[in-house]
Amino acid sequence: MVAAVDQAMDAAGLTNPHVREYVNYWAELTGAERVEVVSASDDSRLIKESLAAGEILPAGDGLYYSRSYFKDTARSEERTIVASNNPSDAGVYNNWRSAEEMRPLLEGKMRGASAGKTMYVIPYLMAPPGSPLEAYAAGVELTDHRTVALHMIRMSRVGVDFVNNLADPNSFVRAVHVTGDLENLGQGTPEDQRYFVTIGDERTILHFGSSYGGNALLGKIAHGLRQAAYDGWASGEFLAEQFMLVGITDKKTGKKYHICGGFPSASGKTNLAMTLAPDALGDRYYVEFYGDDIAWLRVDPEDGKIYAINPEFGVFGVAKDTNAATNPGALDSVAPGTQSLFTNIAYNADTNEVWWEGKTPEPPADVTGWADWKGNLISERAEGDDSPWAHPNSRFTTTLANVPNIAADFENPKGVPIDAVIFGGRTRDREPLIRAITDLAEGVYDGLTLGAEATFAAEGVDGQLRYDPMSMRPFMAYPEGAYAAHWLKVIGQAKDQPIFAHVNWFQRDPEDGHFLWPGYRENLRPLLWLMELKNGEVKGRQTPVGIIPTKDELNLDGLEIKPEDLDTILTIDNDRWRQEMGHREKHLKQFDGLPESIWEAHRRITADLEAEG
Ligand code: GDP
Ligand code: PGA
Ligand code: MN
Ligand code: MN
Repeated sequence: MVAAVDQAMDAAGLTNPHVREYVNYWAELTGAERVEVVSASDDSRLIKESLAAGEILPAGDGLYYSRSYFKDTARSEERTIVASNNPSDAGVYNNWRSAEEMRPLLEGKMRGASAGKTMYVIPYLMAPPGSPLEAYAAGVELTDHRTVALHMIRMSRVGVDFVNNLADPNSFVRAVHVTGDLENLGQGTPEDQRYFVTIGDERTILHFGSSYGGNALLGKIAHGLRQAAYDGWASGEFLAEQFMLVGITDKKTGKKYHICGGFPSASGKTNLAMTLAPDALGDRYYVEFYGDDIAWLRVDPEDGKIYAINPEFGVFGVAKDTNAATNPGALDSVAPGTQSLFTNIAYNADTNEVWWEGKTPEPPADVTGWADWKGNLISERAEGDDSPWAHPNSRFTTTLANVPNIAADFENPKGVPIDAVIFGGRTRDREPLIRAITDLAEGVYDGLTLGAEATFAAEGVDGQLRYDPMSMRPFMAYPEGAYAAHWLKVIGQAKDQPIFAHVNWFQRDPEDGHFLWPGYRENLRPLLWLMELKNGEVKGRQTPVGIIPTKDELNLDGLEIKPEDLDTILTIDNDRWRQEMGHREKHLKQFDGLPESIWEAHRRITADLEAEG
């Protein structure tokens, strides 16, 4: 086998001796029958092979569809662990375990588990080439699942050059993915066999028991977020956050702004980055997409500005409710010919069409040929079965170049300078449309107390409120107190301080449940107000929890909204907020070593709410 593995690497020109040793080790351990090194140029051949094997199905010209195992449709936070060799790395959310315990456990599960399969070797880079953070960006994913390789080619830059020419040839992330026998892993039971482990200080990722994107595309979440967050902290150099990243140009003034921000999974990052359409608001602005899920932030020592890069190469977006009105950009980016992949939506095997809830107001009237995401024919459904045709966390995968509003300079290795950092989530009451925060500690405090309703992107209960610090709860790699201190330190170095804001597109009417704010493309309006506030062009109204826009400051041209709904989303509900502060106190008390300035912010806001209430 060793000879065959070396031959495969020779043929692909994979020369880095450390990578070769790593590949040999895991080929032997997992018992893979053969090894294949993947580059982006292998995509069309891999697509053909996957079609022939029935792993993907044709979904129109240059479009493909796949189903994942029905118990394997989302990230699993309880099964996710950030391990290390240092017990003081244990935080509240990282489920810390010792590397000493985890490595043999995972090796045990993976031993022989790829027998009869091909092990795909995927050298990748999670950064635009030439980035100052490139040293943290290289990795090699090993996977025994071909569709994972197809996804990785879309979501990251893939090719042997990314690891052959490393300044330090040993400085790549070792990322091993073994699917396991999905039908016998006890998903969600006390006998759950799945383990998704990142060993932070060994820069090693070992994921066993899933082929779903969020668990199996190791460059994206495990490396791009967990490992990078750990590296950013350990090196003191940068932050890795679950952030979208957009550029907004005001054609009238010629100014360009860059905004990044964290919302928990399935709370609107991808939509925000894609839907703020160029023609919005009378063609005065144009909005460019830089990223929709991950940003790495550093302060440039020369000009003292905060720069953000999107380490990804593609978009892994939620399909539900994507349509020509909500997100035309997303539809364009998965149009025929884009080589996009769909996962777990509804599929018509006769016509190769796809559908998901919200794509059109009603599902296709003629159900002939249509099957739901589990593959069950709609025509054979029991009377009264109105379960969704697509899984609520069904996804599309496409490369950045397909996104219509992709920024011209999206591969600029330096990244873009940041003007604002926003946080948001699904909150049906209390949180106004936008509240701006001008103080760093208060901004970090706001991120740490981000609370939102659970969504389907992670296993959990839809509709239940939970705290999700900076939207990083599922990716937290080291203790939360140190995380807050690292934020204060990194951003504190910046000469130009960003403005912070908390946004909420999801406030609902308590009676009939309708969204009070139209959302989607209209979300540009509060962001423009935020930039005007930063420029000193508007004043807003100071409240204990931040500055909120007055009605006349917000651009409402052509907006359809009921006056009473607008009043509600521009108002602070003092009673609800005072109640919230008690929950926040409990939440923050879990974290050891939280910087005093965070507690000061908490006390200041609590006192201000009391004084007003
Ligand atoms: P992400 O996972 O954070 O990237 O979130 P997405 O942008 O994929 O959105 C998740 C879900 O929220 C999708 O079903 C969207 O249609 C929906 N969504 C996104 N933005 C808005 C908005 O402004 N208003 C409403 N009502 N729904 C939204
Ligand atoms: P999302 O990205 O934030 O768009 O849902 C994927 C994930 O976080 O699993
Ligand atoms: Mn995400
Ligand atoms: Mn997204």
